[in-house]
Amino acid sequence: MPIIRITDVTKVFPPRSRGEAPAPALDGVSLDVEKGDIFGIIGYSGAGKSTLVRLINALEKPTSGTVVVDGIEVSSLAEGKLGKVRLGIGMVFQQFNLFTSRTVWGNIEYPLRVAGVPKEQYQARVSELLHFVGLVDQAHAYPDQLSGGQKQRVGIARALATSPAILLADEATSALDPETTREVLALLKRVNEEFGVTIVVITHEMEVIRSIAHKVAVMENGRIVERGDVFDIFSAPVAEATKRFVSTIVTSVPDGVSLEALRVRHPGRIVTFSFADGSTSQSAVFLTLGAAGIGFELVYGGINEVQARTFGHLTLALTGDDAVVDAALDEIRSVAEVTEVA
Ligand SMILES: Nc1ncnc2c1ncn2[C@@H]1O[C@H](COP(=O)(O)OP(=O)(O)O)[C@@H](O)[C@H]1O
Ligand SMILES: [Mg+2]
Repeated sequence: MPIIRITDVTKVFPPRSRGEAPAPALDGVSLDVEKGDIFGIIGYSGAGKSTLVRLINALEKPTSGTVVVDGIEVSSLAEGKLGKVRLGIGMVFQQFNLFTSRTVWGNIEYPLRVAGVPKEQYQARVSELLHFVGLVDQAHAYPDQLSGGQKQRVGIARALATSPAILLADEATSALDPETTREVLALLKRVNEEFGVTIVVITHEMEVIRSIAHKVAVMENGRIVERGDVFDIFSAPVAEATKRFVSTIVTSVPDGVSLEALRVRHPGRIVTFSFADGSTSQSAVFLTLGAAGIGFELVYGGINEVQARTFGHLTLALTGDDAVVDAALDEIRSVAEVTEVA
């Protein structure tokens, strides 16, 4: 049984103004998250991502469908019984949502006090968390005195205080600069690896998915349009929305202005070879072209690393007799995906 199972969920909010038709925020979404995974959910603003994660800790109830967390159907649980469930689910936010009138220490101890943990016990826990997130020296500082990255580290420590099995991160790095984003993502990765916490990360940035997620679901208009292992999604996206997200960080087949620019410089044939994992097929491509006396120049593309595996798309401008090039491309098709671009 997955730690989170969302089955055929629909969520319709009442219209914000009178006369407006209610559009579903979620429209028949099913999703399983396995224990120990970092599961990414990516989509543009308004796709339904936040609504989906808020179902997991029952901040929202589905209009129809069920949400089961750790064997408990939270979607039908009475509000009074949700407190215990929520202790097992930490949450971090884009705007950190810290208590500005409490110190770093005070923020982290807060959920433990609310949960009624005895003082001797929670002091040890707060101290341990401060070490884990690297904020021992800031224990008595107030949030206003911290950088964005430090604030988010407090947010993460606070979310972990009650030792939850699940952490929900809703755009946790979206307010941070790229360098700080990397630090916070590295911290989330440690949370997953060292504590075995299952993490659901929501983002609109593919780099977040690439750097920490194991699995990903792509959302559009309240639906999941594609899902799978992060490597598979990056190396061979199928849905249009997925392709758009992947293209933000992966150069694959040149098109649009990139292609026009290439065309001007290279009047001959332009061909993209796609590879996944290992370079033996790359050797085969270059050997075949060389043996056939075909001239080639690498003009576009690159190799990408996802989940410690590599894939890439290399675009070459070829010069040689058409029939010879055709024969070579036919031979290469058995070892690499070949796309003739122009
Ligand atoms: N409390 C609410 N009341 C009415 N509409 C809402 C509410 N929360 C979200 N929505 C609508 O649901 C859709 C999905 O929103 P949301 O889940 O926040 O998307 P995302 O997090 O992907 O940006 C949007 O059209 C949004 O306007
Ligand atoms: Mg959102």
